[in-house]
Amino acid sequence: MAATSTHLLPPLLLILLSAIAPLGATLPENPVPINSNSILVALLDSHYTELSELVEKALLLHTLEEAVTKHNLTIFAPKNDALERHLDPEFKRFLLEPGNIKSLQTFILHHILPIKLSHGDWPTNPTRSTRHAALSDDHLEVSCIAISDGSCSKYVGDVKVVRFNSVVRPDGIIHGIEKVMIPKSVEREFNNRRNLRSISAVKPEGAPEIDPRTRKLSKRKANEIPVEGARKLSVYEAMAPGPSLAPAPAPGPGGPHHHFDGEKQVNDFIQTLLLYGGYNEMADILVNLTSLATEMGKLISEGYVLTVLAPNDEAMAKLTTEKLSEPGAPEQIVYYHIVPEYQTEESMYNAVRRFGSVSYDTLSLPHKIVAKEADGSVRFGEGEDSGYLFDPDIYTDGRISVQGIDGVLFPPAPPEEKKNEVKGRKIADQNAKTVARARRGKLLEVACGMLEFLGQHSKFTTCKG
Ligand SMILES: *[C@@H]1O[C@H](CO)[C@@H](O)[C@H](O)[C@H]1NC(C)=O
Ligand SMILES: *[C@@H]1O[C@H](CO)[C@@H](O)[C@H](O)[C@H]1NC(C)=O
Repeated sequence: MAATSTHLLPPLLLILLSAIAPLGATLPENPVPINSNSILVALLDSHYTELSELVEKALLLHTLEEAVTKHNLTIFAPKNDALERHLDPEFKRFLLEPGNIKSLQTFILHHILPIKLSHGDWPTNPTRSTRHAALSDDHLEVSCIAISDGSCSKYVGDVKVVRFNSVVRPDGIIHGIEKVMIPKSVEREFNNRRNLRSISAVKPEGAPEIDPRTRKLSKRKANEIPVEGARKLSVYEAMAPGPSLAPAPAPGPGGPHHHFDGEKQVNDFIQTLLLYGGYNEMADILVNLTSLATEMGKLISEGYVLTVLAPNDEAMAKLTTEKLSEPGAPEQIVYYHIVPEYQTEESMYNAVRRFGSVSYDTLSLPHKIVAKEADGSVRFGEGEDSGYLFDPDIYTDGRISVQGIDGVLFPPAPPEEKKNEVKGRKIADQNAKTVARARRGKLLEVACGMLEFLGQHSKFTTCKG
């Protein structure tokens, strides 16, 4: 009996550990909220759903959140098919076993470099290649392999890069790749396991089950594990670039050649806000600040996207008239409620649920809005100046998103001492800003500054000159 119980201990411990670990992962103790336009948030929102799921299953969110505070990341994302269908089922099962979580983590980290590697960083000469250490501590070789027409195809390891710059964010970049990449160490672990299995006299079995009728341990029937019929691909096949290369999909919308009637869309959303009811104050401000609406329209025409967090009338009514009548106050309030990203209720809720808290850039630079998950919803801001996502997705057309909130948000006040310290510099800064502002509107200036930061400056004609 004693022998049996010590035998049972490790699996029990494992179960306990795997039950505790996800709890820890959903409540990260990270004091700095992740930026909403981080490459990590983008990955989880991207169409690389298979890879995103694995990242979550591997409990790597926290690790990657830390990595992205220290480095820019390059993520090589295998196409969904590569993980879903073209991976050796036995290898996939191996990765997903709770006891092999280390292997799964190494496997995923092998697809991530702690540097930003863009298309231009690839060698253009087939005889050249460069090596980079991945987060798995293994190296990845970046190369260019000659093809018949004299040019060369770009590879990472043995895998072809099929979609460069699939997602680009200030702190990283995602390139789509044809197949998965398997680090040597994981390959060894998998092969060891397989060899152990093939030489052991006893066939491996699933966990024991209790027969509900006899209340005794029952053996799982062999035919309940359908292995034989499934088509198998070896790990090597999965890794090798096959002949059936799909063409890279066209880049998404929003490029410089797509023009939209932004002004019409801005009018549309203000009308929608009015018709929706309960948002008359915010709609009024937007209508009255005609230059603001015009500038927003221009940006939308250029392919820019915005999310407006619109405080409802009840929230606006609580604002003292003083606060609103200060010169420039309505503008400042509006700027702070505009996020230069396209966010929906779903994307924001998913982000705060995964990361605990997320910070969104606003057009009132450099102030950010911190959002947290609260009561099954999203709560923006802190303390009194906070608001819940109250009327989700009032207007969403793919470029402008309007989300109703039940509070007016204000940037956190800077600590008094700090204010005095930087006073001198601030005045100098302000002078520089005023000069820049004279040329174009504040909204455009802010937006163009952000595009510049993203390395997309030249795409937008509004920002030139
Ligand atoms: C990330 O890259 C940007 C330029 O794209 C650079 O300004 C920034 O310092 C980099 N961050 C880190 C942590 O290396
Ligand atoms: C907008 O303009 C109208 C008419 O000039 C005025 O009555 C209203 O108070 C203004 N609203 C705000 C929020 O400034």
